[in-house]
Amino acid sequence: MKIIESGTGAEAGIRAADLIAELVRATPTAVLGLATGSSPLPLYAALAAQNLDLGRVRGFSLDEYLGLGAADGKSYAQVIRREVIERLGLDPALIRTPDGLAPDPVQEAADFERSIREAGGIDLQILGIGSNGHLAFNEPPSAFDSRTRVVELAPSTRDDNARFFDSAADVPTHAITQGLGTIGEARQLLLIAHGEAKAEAVARAVEGPVTEDFPASLIQRHPNATLVLDAAAASRMQRARV
Ligand code: GLP
Repeated sequence: MKIIESGTGAEAGIRAADLIAELVRATPTAVLGLATGSSPLPLYAALAAQNLDLGRVRGFSLDEYLGLGAADGKSYAQVIRREVIERLGLDPALIRTPDGLAPDPVQEAADFERSIREAGGIDLQILGIGSNGHLAFNEPPSAFDSRTRVVELAPSTRDDNARFFDSAADVPTHAITQGLGTIGEARQLLLIAHGEAKAEAVARAVEGPVTEDFPASLIQRHPNATLVLDAAAASRMQRARV
């Protein structure tokens, strides 16, 4: 595992964007796993500033709230469209987010998983981390071999994400998420965390026991994982970083 510590979130975003730019220069049709949340925003901003041609990049979102469709401003589909597709000049036809309004969400999850396989798997998966150690919406505990599926959100996650809704009660109770097995099969993981509020979760993910009770500890088992952290998010770790 490689840990890159940069002073500020914006600097961390530049370091993370460099990793993606390097991949896309080598493979213009690279398959990216796309994350929402505030953590990757500086990365997307820094990547946009590189003016790289990303028009052939393919992408799969990590997760989506159940019950929110792509037309809903709070859906991850729309966040991905706004913050990623439009900012980076991706081709919307090459980007897939689970459909939160699918009539059969279990089937939708299986179809999504199959689409990733048919694309040849994910080259680089962008990840944030939940304060409770979740990856995507894989709440503790989640099986390390879990696939894309329907999950129930933890109360703490609904509280954390209430800031995007009118109230905590408006946060959907369920989601479709890539599984930890799905995420772990990506050829490269790029986890981004900023701020003191993530410091404890980052330390446990990197230095704590590898356990399904703390999903982000999955990164310790991955052969090619990079963490890009600002100083605050790295503040509780013991180990050396570059
Ligand atoms: C959300 C998302 C995760 C994200 C995490 C952290 O619930 N489902 O994929 O990584 O929480 O979000 P943020 O980066 O806004 O702290």
